[in-house]
Parts: sequence; C-alpha cells; structure tokens
Amino acid sequence: MSKNVNIDWSKLGFSYMKTDFRYISKWKDGQWDDGKLVEDNQISISEASTALHYGQQCFEGLKAYRTKDGSIQLFRPDQNAKRMNDSCKRIMMPGIPEEKFIDACIQVVKANEAYVPPYGTGATLYLRPFMIGIGDNIGVKPAPEYLFCVFCLPVGPYFKGGMTPVNFIISEYDRAAPYGTGAAKVGGNYAGSLYPHALAVEKGFADCIYLDPLTHTKIEEVGAANFFGITKDDTFVTPVSPSILPSITKYSLMYLAKEYLGMKVEERDVLVDRLDEFKEAGACGTAAVITPIGGIQHKDNFHVFYSETEVGPVTKKLYNTLYGIQFGDVEEPE
Ligand code: COI
Repeated sequence: MSKNVNIDWSKLGFSYMKTDFRYISKWKDGQWDDGKLVEDNQISISEASTALHYGQQCFEGLKAYRTKDGSIQLFRPDQNAKRMNDSCKRIMMPGIPEEKFIDACIQVVKANEAYVPPYGTGATLYLRPFMIGIGDNIGVKPAPEYLFCVFCLPVGPYFKGGMTPVNFIISEYDRAAPYGTGAAKVGGNYAGSLYPHALAVEKGFADCIYLDPLTHTKIEEVGAANFFGITKDDTFVTPVSPSILPSITKYSLMYLAKEYLGMKVEERDVLVDRLDEFKEAGACGTAAVITPIGGIQHKDNFHVFYSETEVGPVTKKLYNTLYGIQFGDVEEPE
C-alpha cells in the first residue's frame, strides 16, 4: 500500500472525505477528451452552466470492495455505466462510453488504493461518478460542453447502525411524476426529497417512503433506496413503476434470491394498505446495501414487520449472500 491514511474504519458513516485523486474528462465539439486524474477537488465552471440553473446533471454510485486476499473488486460497474447513459439520454446529455466509464472508475480506485478499507471491516470505497452540463448558455437547452468526474471516499453504513432495523414514515410528498425523471439518476429527484426527508427525521424516522404519485396507494421508494418485502411464503417482492430508480442492488437481490436461495421473485404493485402480506421488509441500494425496515408509519397506523430490533432470517440470508459476493467470499451456484 502506497501510504498510511490513519482512518478508524469501524467509525465510518456515509460522509464526505477528500481522497487524493479524482478523474475528470470534458466533452466539447462532439467528443470526450482523454481524461486525467487530478488532485484538486474544486471545479471551476461558467456561471451560466446548465447544471447550475436547469439541473442538467446526473450521477451514479458504486463501490469497490477489498477481498480476503487483499485484492480489490468493483461490483457490476457495467450496470452503472448503462444506467448513467440512460439518465444522460433522458436529460439530453452525451453518453459516456462504457469502457471509458469503467476505466475512469479503475483509475480512481488504483490512485486512491490506500483509502480502500481492509477486508473484514465491512467498510467500502464508494465511487461517485457524475456528469454536469457546463459552458456559457442561458436558454433552456442542452449545454454546449460537459464535464464527467469520478471521485471516491471510504464509507460505512448509510443508515446509522447498518444491518439493524430502522423505521420509516409514508410521505405526503411525491418524489417524482408518473412519467417524469424518477427513473433517471438526476439531482432534481434528490433535491425534491430533502424537505420530506427532514420532516421524517424531525418525527423520529430514518427517512420517508414515497407512494406512487398518481394514486398514492402503492409503495415506490424508500428515501434514496428501493423497497422489497418478503411474503409469508418466502416470495421476494419489489414494486414496479416507471418512476422508480432502477437499483442495481435491487436487481442483484432479485437474481440471487432466485438463483442462490431458490426463492420466488415478483416485481409488482405493493399496496400500502396491504403491508401485512409481508413478514419482512427492507430498503436496498448501493449506499443502503440492505437496511431492514422495522416498521412503517402510515397516517395513524404503525405497522411492524419482523421486529423493530431484530433482523428477519430471510433478510439476513439475502444480506449475507450479497455481502459474500461483493467481498468475493461467495461463488456462483452450480
Ligand atoms: C446510492 O445508493 O449509491 C445512491 O446514490 C443513494 C444516495 C446516496 C443518493
């Protein structure tokens, strides 16, 4: 290892820490430049950048994992590249070639290797790729230039306590319109979530849960994560909607629930008035990994799933399998 960074890995939460290098590439006149690693974490852009006025920006989140033999692996970076390109298309930004995206991630991990937490700590290196519209422009139209950056930081659990159950409250606010930008990983979706999140925290909940914007009867998202429930007959259920952000962790869980654990898997409506069909529930995402849901407050009703303090056995099994794959301890089944 190149340097000693003196970090207490066990105390890490999900907070910004400046690491040594980030990758920057710029797009102009129809093409990306070669890109390079830089040390400066400040970005200087035009005051008329579309990212600043019209929210023309998108981002990704993925992690690097230190395995038992000391090597480092990324989890499904090709999926993040694809999702970023879907987001770009939705808000008229140039796509980023998949190889360039993955190469940028690898360069950033290698350059910041000292910040990749040791195996066994449960901590990981979180990578945040993002793209913003830059250059001089004032009309509501796509930017003349773009900047793509990948930076990284070591992280622990997103929700305090990690794999311990937390409670959520159903929000009266919407996260995204039915055919709006909910399925794209764009900053505006998250800006709109800050106020409902603050209200939920003020009431003592970890975050809020959003219902479908059209009928307010179906669960869509858990804060910045996806929802899953386990029915009494061990089916893994997760909501389907055009305004849900397609979580790579969620699709990985659907795959491993079926292929590794032999469970039934359904992507379908989850009615907020039928929470009793689930014996366990959780939030999932790159940052959240799997966070067990203790209970959900909906109007005057507080529904507890497995327990407010204990993790249910199926959630635990899903977590252990995912964790095992990500840290290189679990092999594909025969
Ligand atoms: C992620 O899970 O990577 C996210 O992007 C969620 C949040 C931190 C914005």
